Amino acid sequence: MTPPPVRVDHLVTSGTFSLDGGTWEVDNNVWLVGDDHEVYVIDAAHDADAIADAVGDRRLLGIICTHGHDDHIDAAPALAERTGAPILLHPEDEVLWRMRHPDRAPDKPLADGDVLTVAGTRLRVVHTPGHSPGAVCLYAPALTTVFSGDTLFQGGPGATGRSYSSFPTIIESIRERLLTLPPETVVRTGHGDSTAIGDEAPHLEEWIARGH
Ligand SMILES: [Fe+2]
Repeated sequence: MTPPPVRVDHLVTSGTFSLDGGTWEVDNNVWLVGDDHEVYVIDAAHDADAIADAVGDRRLLGIICTHGHDDHIDAAPALAERTGAPILLHPEDEVLWRMRHPDRAPDKPLADGDVLTVAGTRLRVVHTPGHSPGAVCLYAPALTTVFSGDTLFQGGPGATGRSYSSFPTIIESIRERLLTLPPETVVRTGHGDSTAIGDEAPHLEEWIARGH
């Protein structure tokens, strides 16, 4: 079988995350999935210029938001404006989106089971609430990878200590929707290093016991 002519590009951008009256410095992973002609951006964080450079002269099919926390969406409107690409967000995170962008709504809703296709490669939307109500992951079987946003990291679940988060809900999402993927699936996260489903799955009970 010929491998798909699709590649995953990766940027790390820096900025802040604000919620519940606090602000924190953060580095975010920005992922681009595509070929030489067309591409999706997953999480337009912090730096529209850097992301537009990585898109280059390719057609940007859409700006996928894994969730509505402001560090993952702060550059989305600027990137949409300069490329004409639509912004895609699960409707349950519009409450978070509006805190950062009250005057500019997302363009299209994401729903569980939606399939986005780029250069013949399928990205399946997997609704994984818990870190936020409208958090989604993007599963690309042909690339043996899942883009996990802030739902699953190397070493455990995303944070659930702030508003609109739920620890039991994120555990349910991880158990039912992510740890059921093939163990070799590479997990490309919203912050920090990548991991694999098979490396994280044995630790689920530890996370439940520690409560985060
Ligand atoms: Fe987040």
